Amino acid sequence: MASGSPPDATVASGAPAGYEISVCTGEGARYRALAGDVSAGLRSVPKELPPKLFYDDEGCRLFGAITRLDEYYLTRREHEILRRVAPEIVALSGAGTLVELGSGFSDKTRLLLDAMAAAGTLEGFVPFDVNETALRAAAAAAAEAYPGAATHGVVGEFGADLRSIPRVDRRLVALLGGTIGNFSGPERRKFLAEIAGLSSVGETFLLGADLVKDRSRLLAAYDDAAGVTAAFNRNILRVINRRLDADFEPLRFTHVATYDDDTQWIEMWLRSEGAQEVHVRRLDLRVSFDDGEAMRTEISAKFRPHQISDELAAAGFAVLGQWLDGAGDFSLTLARRADRSPP
Ligand code: SAH
Ligand code: AVI
Repeated sequence: MASGSPPDATVASGAPAGYEISVCTGEGARYRALAGDVSAGLRSVPKELPPKLFYDDEGCRLFGAITRLDEYYLTRREHEILRRVAPEIVALSGAGTLVELGSGFSDKTRLLLDAMAAAGTLEGFVPFDVNETALRAAAAAAAEAYPGAATHGVVGEFGADLRSIPRVDRRLVALLGGTIGNFSGPERRKFLAEIAGLSSVGETFLLGADLVKDRSRLLAAYDDAAGVTAAFNRNILRVINRRLDADFEPLRFTHVATYDDDTQWIEMWLRSEGAQEVHVRRLDLRVSFDDGEAMRTEISAKFRPHQISDELAAAGFAVLGQWLDGAGDFSLTLARRADRSPP
């Protein structure tokens, strides 16, 4: 990989030989963004928190535990598809470098990297994630497994840092896990257009998206019997307590998951048990919750296969292939950056 330094990286931190890590935003700017997001979210009606706040180290650990739950079929289904079609995706893509957005620990990604290595095309791997611990672990593991490839991790945020992704030839950008569902319709259009904008004509994009299905299965996936998703949801309050010196009592909030047939969204909420006031000291903000008042922490949209193709086309991609798992629960769609702008 002809790795140029990402133009917007403000800190290029040292890493052991074998891989490179860029951190896009310094701690001060990250803190100001967090403070702004939380301040706006706690003042809005209904109250709302941005889901990226889930992913401190404990949040990443809890997400990993969610992926192993019986009820949470998404990860297993996507893994099943990748096991079957990764070589086909790699052949269609013709890519030398895999860029993974929201990479986490990049577990499933190994199927794509293995297929690229087997095809003799693997030149580089660029994991991109807001959580530095997971990113470094993913980069270290990839550097060890694929010593001939250039691994360059980028610690960054979807909304601000996509331009920091190294501009190398023949990239395949992957957004796996159903993370696209964590964006509303307008946010999704903007995000897909940004991904198209950072891709050169001919480069490819692989999108993992969860599909509409029986609501009882959807609800169980986001409200599991062991309470792992509830712990993941409440963890967002611990993140705010730590970062902004707040005094949320997480156990005074109940995890609630709903599914709306019209929006095709799961929504996760935290419902206040009793009236309570929370003090966010670093924001100098006192926030009142009524008994039963719910604060939204996440949406997780579900799709129909044609909708995914339509949205990709609208963003400037031409679909090359779409694959479902055997049960029709989850989808992977591969698209090429088209040489004409969408109408
Ligand atoms: N791709 C993995 C992980 C999905 S979990 C999988 O398929 O299992 C979502 C990942 O996106 C987490 O690792 C989280 O840290 C990251 N993430 C969430 N919001 C983000 C944001 N705004 N910018 C960058 N990364 C984000
Ligand atoms: C990361 N994202 C795709 C997960 C999802 O399914 O929307 C996050 C999650 N929320 C609750 N469980 C898992």
